[in-house]
Amino acid sequence: MIESRLRHLLKENDLHAELSADFGAQNPAGRGHLREAIARHLRTLLGPLTTEEEAQIRDLSRPLTRVRGRGISISHTRGLGGFLSAPRACGFDVEMVSRVNEKAVARVSKPAELRSAPSPAHLWTAKEAAYKAFGSFDDVSLLSRIETVNWSPLDKDSRSGIFQAKNLSDSSSPSGLGCVIESEIYLIAAFLFLP
Ligand SMILES: CC(C)(COP(=O)(O)OP(=O)(O)OC[C@H]1O[C@@H](n2cnc3c(N)ncnc32)[C@H](O)[C@@H]1OP(=O)(O)O)[C@@H](O)C(=O)NCCC(=O)NCCS
Repeated sequence: MIESRLRHLLKENDLHAELSADFGAQNPAGRGHLREAIARHLRTLLGPLTTEEEAQIRDLSRPLTRVRGRGISISHTRGLGGFLSAPRACGFDVEMVSRVNEKAVARVSKPAELRSAPSPAHLWTAKEAAYKAFGSFDDVSLLSRIETVNWSPLDKDSRSGIFQAKNLSDSSSPSGLGCVIESEIYLIAAFLFLP
């Protein structure tokens, strides 16, 4: 259900998303289960994985962002976790709406973003997803230099919003398309660079 909405909103059929309460941050085994699910998904998509790829996927001490050229992004919060897999670099974020700290959002956002995003929680989730796709492991200040623009009005039926994002500190970096979907008490954001 979420997967087909992401494919539709991001106009990319080769997107795979899997979400489960079992992958949630409340479950000590959840991160491992999530990596197993990624390995299963990649074996189905790509065929047998090499020993190195299997080890890379299972290494919980390192973030997983790419396997054999495929973009992977992981997120977990209390009660829900999941991953996104895409043909190029991507970002995925799951947040519990009630846990988003509006002051923290304001600290890393421009006034124009706060005005145009559907809510501070949408904005935070969108920026976290884009941050993961832009992929900087040593520069947390990047979050405030990622600007979301062109937010669509929230779709009344699907409760989803679309945005674009760019890296203000690097004019040569690609831009991408993202979406934020409301699902019960959670917001789920995905971000993908344009082909
Ligand atoms: C890295 C960050 C994006 C993770 O987000 P989060 O909401 O805390 O946690 P999530 O569950 O959504 O994401 C965690 C996953 O992201 C992935 N990840 C971690 N760092 C990453 C990075 N720099 N780029 C891409 N993916 C990353 C990992 O796979 C991780 O899962 P795993 O540990 O099971 O492998 C976030 O902590 C962060 O640094 N945000 C931006 C900077 C910032 O403002 N930090 C707060 C400072 S006060």
